[in-house]
Amino acid sequence: MIKKCLFPAAGYGTRFLPATKSMPKEMMPIVNKPLIEYGVDEAIQAGMTDMAIVTGRGKHALMDHFDMNYELEHQISGTAKEALLNDIRDVIDSASFTYIRQREMKGLGHAILTGRELVGDNPFAVVLADDLCINEDQGVLAQMAALYKQFRCTIVAVEEVPRDETHKYGVIAGEPLTDSIIRVTDMVEKPEPGKEPSNLAIIGRYILTPDIFEILENTQPGKGGEIQITDALLEQAKNGCVLAYKFKGKRFDCGSVEGFIEATNYCYENIYKK
Ligand code: G1P
Repeated sequence: MIKKCLFPAAGYGTRFLPATKSMPKEMMPIVNKPLIEYGVDEAIQAGMTDMAIVTGRGKHALMDHFDMNYELEHQISGTAKEALLNDIRDVIDSASFTYIRQREMKGLGHAILTGRELVGDNPFAVVLADDLCINEDQGVLAQMAALYKQFRCTIVAVEEVPRDETHKYGVIAGEPLTDSIIRVTDMVEKPEPGKEPSNLAIIGRYILTPDIFEILENTQPGKGGEIQITDALLEQAKNGCVLAYKFKGKRFDCGSVEGFIEATNYCYENIYKK
């Protein structure tokens, strides 16, 4: 039912410099697959077909990745190496890719608002490729899309984190509806230590109803002087239709070197070698 998936991908990836000096951070590979392709796979598995990517300067490699490379195809055609392109060929065949440039870096909320033209007046998913989520039977977005069908509300993925790490995330609080679903009543972007409303951190998977765009247009810069999706979601939550979902699966913070290495080891052992 949800066809569109937005990928904010305009950030600089400064934590990985110099690797990200001329290469988009979303193209950093976990073993042999770029981070963003894991996110696109997850979206396709959830039944989504329209990938909308918000890019910035120096992101051509991203566009080239989701396109044919005739020279390469020609070179390896008929050799054993051809099979190595099977997965990305399937991805390219299963989805459309559109791009829009975010000219100024004014925060995640601004990046999502920039994607409005690609998304239109439809509910849509958002994937932050830095957060690599793995669950064998049903990916996190597929779990969330199923919930959306039932509730027709905005849904954010959350995970319990140690209290001393809550300052790195958007943190929610609310009323539990089931063991894994919470109706959100409060939300704080990167709370000061001791001011967090809970230990439930938002992870980079969202399903948003399109009224979020109007709200984002009126959202003032918040934490770090940036337009924060978390602030817009708190406004949206006033209508009682923002849910937080404790997803099933593993999540790796590939925006940090430690998380990136953990994800690499995990994927090497559990995906690549199998
Ligand atoms: C963003 C969001 C934050 C969320 C996080 C998940 O922060 O602003 O609310 O918890 O993604 O990865 P960033 O990591 O871009 O600073």
